Amino acid sequence: MPKILILPGDGIGPEVMGAALGVLEKAELSSGVRFDKETELFGGCSIDASGVPATDEVLSKAQSADAVLLGAVGGGKWENLEHSVKPETGLLSLRKILDTYVNLRPAKVYPALADASSLKRDVVSGTDILVVRELTGGIYFGEPRGIEETEDGGRRGFNTLSYSTAEIERVACKAFEAARARRGELVSVDKSNVLESMALWRETVSRVGRERFPDVKLEHIYVDNAAMQIIRRPKTFDVLLAGNLFGDIISDEAAQLTGSLGMLPSASVGNGGAIYEPVHGSAPDIAGTDAANPVAAILSVAMMLKHSFGMDEEAGRIDRAVSAVLDEGFRTADIHQEGTRKVGCREMGEAVARAMDRP
Ligand code: IPM
Ligand code: MG
Repeated sequence: MPKILILPGDGIGPEVMGAALGVLEKAELSSGVRFDKETELFGGCSIDASGVPATDEVLSKAQSADAVLLGAVGGGKWENLEHSVKPETGLLSLRKILDTYVNLRPAKVYPALADASSLKRDVVSGTDILVVRELTGGIYFGEPRGIEETEDGGRRGFNTLSYSTAEIERVACKAFEAARARRGELVSVDKSNVLESMALWRETVSRVGRERFPDVKLEHIYVDNAAMQIIRRPKTFDVLLAGNLFGDIISDEAAQLTGSLGMLPSASVGNGGAIYEPVHGSAPDIAGTDAANPVAAILSVAMMLKHSFGMDEEAGRIDRAVSAVLDEGFRTADIHQEGTRKVGCREMGEAVARAMDRP
């Protein structure tokens, strides 16, 4: 039986996970495939229970699972802890240990939500972007890093941005492959006019394209310009490739095109390990109020079924159910507008699960 490790995490994590698991159960029923599901503490709740964001036991369970399904981690309560024991650090260790170096973040504007974005309808409608973010390198992991005392009695904080050709090549290949399976257009985001690591990034992506993917149209764009073009002409982008930090930033930006960060799922894959999680965080301000949007978590289940288990039909069924429910006017608070039906997290999840029964 394929194994899934479930890590609901903190804040709204357990609520959106509840909705996502309802949808997963539906997919199990209709496909006949059963999963071995185990739930563990991760993030702030794990810090409270055992002092660390991820125990060795949980990390080793993640390594032996076929996929990890994650809710969200973090919250004000743990914000001032030392860096090495923050909830976020647990997430980064999990990504590193599983070597999930490629993070896929699709940002698609559903027709029913074209008015929910803060941008004009004709700017966003039809947008369908895939952000491919490098996830286990760059400034997130570079050494040296730290905060030190300086001679003048002050302090200095520092991090290192470094990328090797091997690291760039492997994520670039995944981005080219993804583009090939879509519209065949890849835009690589960098800051090669200022940073050496990014000059190597550009050079390497160009070479990979020339040698192995001549059929994919490749363009390069500086990150500052990318930030502007993404909100100016989002429809023109197909696949965007970026390093860890730039990818973190532009994926939140792309999310806003869709109306809400609550709509964006993600898949982190690479060398066998796989983590599926909503792009949004733990939203402590609305945690426990049943106000969260579970769609990102639900669509993360669809990505898991597709990427880890080859269950394309079930994944498609979930995608269609989400569209149908949005078409019918169901909206959580983050995407609610006049004339639509405001529902809570649980009801939204149930509506999607119900819609999966339809042909
Ligand atoms: C994300 C998040 C994480 C990141 C945080 C929670 C560590 O912002 O997945 O985009 O920066 O990668
Ligand atoms: Mg982020």
